[in-house]
Amino acid sequence: MQIPKDLIEKANDKLSRVANSAEFYQVRSAFLGKSSQLTQLFGSLRDLPKEDKIKFAKELNAIKSELEGIFERAFDSLGSSNQSSANLDLTLPGIDHGLGTLHPISVITQKITSYFEQNHYSVFFGNEIESDFFNFEALNFPANHPARQMHDTFYLDDEQKYLMRTHTSNTQIHAMMKYGVPLKMLSPGRVYRCDSDNTHLPMFTQAEGLVVDQNASFGKLKGTLINFLNHFFDQEMEVRFRPSYFPFTEPSAEVDIRFGKKGWLEVLGCGMVHPNVLIGCGVDPNQFTGFAFGMGIERLAMLYYGVEDIRDFYSSNLEFLKQFNTSL
Ligand code: DAH
Repeated sequence: MQIPKDLIEKANDKLSRVANSAEFYQVRSAFLGKSSQLTQLFGSLRDLPKEDKIKFAKELNAIKSELEGIFERAFDSLGSSNQSSANLDLTLPGIDHGLGTLHPISVITQKITSYFEQNHYSVFFGNEIESDFFNFEALNFPANHPARQMHDTFYLDDEQKYLMRTHTSNTQIHAMMKYGVPLKMLSPGRVYRCDSDNTHLPMFTQAEGLVVDQNASFGKLKGTLINFLNHFFDQEMEVRFRPSYFPFTEPSAEVDIRFGKKGWLEVLGCGMVHPNVLIGCGVDPNQFTGFAFGMGIERLAMLYYGVEDIRDFYSSNLEFLKQFNTSL
């Protein structure tokens, strides 16, 4: 087989005389197209003995990729010289691809997280798949405890050992086991329950707070939450602590805020960390006390933005989402 040594030279020569893209494509097809000499040579490889086939294929491929490079560069420079030609209207507006914005729930999550970070809380991320131990057992919900019923949920296996976490309170256990105490942490994230209507979703977002040290008190818990709510809504809020029950806190409270014509609305659960929870994490309840709180982020976002139907956040309706074109 005769390998033409001057193909590259010839191609360069022809390309130097090309004035527009039509001419460019003609020359390209003459050198790399179906009926080009190169393509024919590739075709005749099949008649060669094996060793020759390998040797010539290598050489032909080297020429081919060199040619392709030459044509690519020639095309680019054709493009850039065309751009300065008179028929390009530089005054035409560009194509707007839209930058996109943060989802309102991300905005509110960041607003909450950055407030607590400024107050020296570490941000801790848990797992959305949890074991029964972390989601319930370690939080003082033994098997068959009636409080589990409020967490009707999605199990991942028949033995019900693993589930989509039903709340973020399990991050309290992970954080204490991992970092020990004293500890101040805030943990935002998604949680899952079998629930769906205009104020409940099967997937929603919570932020969990935990403070454990030698003098955490209910008074400090109240101060923390009142300050947070005033900051969040950027006004002095009327806040009410209503006695409640959670297995992992004692005493426990639900926190309501008075919200205009809507009256009192529940926004948070909280309480002093139950000694059983501390003991389970290797913390001595005679030395340390803790307070914890958990808030539903969609709920706060609905109040903040005046959204009536929680499902709007996740319906992927751009007209709805574009309204929150805010930066923090
Ligand atoms: N985990 C509770 C829920 O999902 C919310 C909660 C209540 C969190 C009290 C807390 C707490 O940390 O102290 O309903």
